[in-house]
This record gives sequence, structure tokens and C-alpha cells, in this order.
Amino acid sequence: MTGEGNGDIAVVIGAGGGIGRALLEALRRDARYGHVVGLSRQRPSDLIDDADQTWIEADILEAPSLLAAARRVAALGMPTRVIVATGALHGPGFGPEKSLRTLNSDTLGRQFQINAIGPALVAQHFLPLMPRDRASAFASLSARVGSIADNAAGGWYGYRASKAALNMIIRTAAIEHARTHPLGICVAIHPGTVATPLSRPFIGQTPPARLFTPQVAAGHILRVLDGLSPEATGGFYAWDGAAIPW
Ligand SMILES: NC(=O)c1ccc[n+]([C@@H]2O[C@H](COP(=O)([O-])OP(=O)(O)OC[C@H]3O[C@@H](n4cnc5c(N)ncnc54)[C@H](OP(=O)(O)O)[C@@H]3O)[C@@H](O)[C@H]2O)c1
Repeated sequence: MTGEGNGDIAVVIGAGGGIGRALLEALRRDARYGHVVGLSRQRPSDLIDDADQTWIEADILEAPSLLAAARRVAALGMPTRVIVATGALHGPGFGPEKSLRTLNSDTLGRQFQINAIGPALVAQHFLPLMPRDRASAFASLSARVGSIADNAAGGWYGYRASKAALNMIIRTAAIEHARTHPLGICVAIHPGTVATPLSRPFIGQTPPARLFTPQVAAGHILRVLDGLSPEATGGFYAWDGAAIPW
């Protein structure tokens, strides 16, 4: 991508999560970014605000908190990277469903809230902050299991369906965003299988070569974003840059 350079602003939403924190650190090491902003519900205990880094408390399900966060970012300048690294596969009282018998409207709703509606609200508040006349990238971390075409194994109803909904939101937002931001890209990214609290209960069978550390995954994600041109907007890409069918 062209038109980016020293002093740019990058924003990571979900900066306290496994991949989100690694993205924050990788962006801080990238000389192109003069200021890195991390948003999360709770401040990571070892994170220090300094001249080059700001932490903002925000809950992606609370529109007023996102609006306040977007205003703080806008006061810093126009971000050229916004990455949504929030998400949930399991939590108190819910986990991936193996059968229709185990579906429950509350837990399905919870997964749609966190995995689809939250990132949609982030896109609503942060896409308009991005520059109209320079290259930029907005990415939301999705999951390959959200691909309908790729679903051969079944199960995981809520996670799969909420990520498929996220993919549609990203695709639709990309079309709208391109009208005003022709150099901007808006994409969904599958980070691969990454050793984090989200995946921990399910990674037992994953061959070591296919299990990434958060640091390696962050490097993959940033490399994919650097390699995409504006024509790639609205797509769904894996950690290695390959397009994933919807
Ligand atoms: N790990 C994998 O193997 C894998 C595979 C495919 C896709 N992904 C996707 O990659 C993304 C990052 O996952 P991860 O593995 O890094 O998971 P993680 O370590 O569990 O981090 C997820 C983050 O989402 C945050 N979050 C959840 N609800 C939130 C809310 N309402 N407001 C603000 N933040 C909220 C959590 O914040 P708290 O810390 O405050 O709870 C947590 O920091 C997710 O979208 C996930 O679906 C991961």
C-alpha cells in the first residue's frame, strides 16, 4: 500500500486479548506508526500510557463508550489502521454447541452481540475517522468457521453464525466506505489457530506447526493488511493472505 508513513495512528480494539495485545505491541514496534491506541474493557495491568501510546476504556457493546473513544481518537488524528480483535467462543454459561438440541436463545444472542453487533458498532464509529485521501485498512478478526462454503464439520452454531453475520457486515460496510474512501480497505481476517484464552479448550488436536503464538499471528495479520490493495476491500482473507470463500 502507498501513502502511509511515519507518524500514523493505529487503533486496536480488544487490546487486552491474546491477539489484540500482540497486535498492539507489533504496531508499537512499526516505525510507520507514531501513535498506537488500545481499547479494551479493562486496562492491561502492565500497559503504560506514554507519548506514543494511549489506552482507552471501551466496551464494544456500549455505543456511548464507543462514541467517546472515537472522539478521543479523532482528537489525535486520522487512523490508518483500525483492527477489531474482540470476540468470544465461550464464556460463563456458554460454549460451542455440538447439536441443535443444545441451542439456547440467550447464548446465541450473546455470541451475535459480541461477534457481529459489537464490530458493526465499531465500524460505525471508526470507519468515518479514516483518511479519505490516503491508504488505510480497517480489519475485523473473523474465523474460517464463519465461512458457509467451508462448513463441512458442522457444530459451533452460534460462533459460526455470528462470524458469518460479521462477514456480511464487513462486506456491506466496505461497499459504503469505498464511496468516500477509495484508497481504504475494509476486510475480515481469519488469524489461523492461535494459542489464546479463546482457543485454549479446543486446541488439543492442533498440530504444533498450525498453532501460532499471538506474536506470530499478529505479524501475519499486519503483513496481510500491508499487502492488500484497495480492490481487495470487502474480502475475507486468511492469515497467509489467501481469500476464503464466503
Ligand atoms: N485464537 C484463535 O485460535 C482464533 C481463531 C480464529 C479467530 N479468532 C478470532 O480472533 C479474535 C481475537 O481472539 P483471541 O484469540 O485473541 O481471543 P481472546 O484472547 O479471548 O481475546 C478476545 C478479546 O475480546 C474482548 N471482548 C469480548 N467482549 C468484549 C466487549 N463487549 N467489549 C470489549 N472487548 C470485548 C475480550 O476482552 P476482556 O479481556 O475484557 O474479556 C478479550 O480481550 C476473535 O474475534 C476471535 O474470534 C481467534
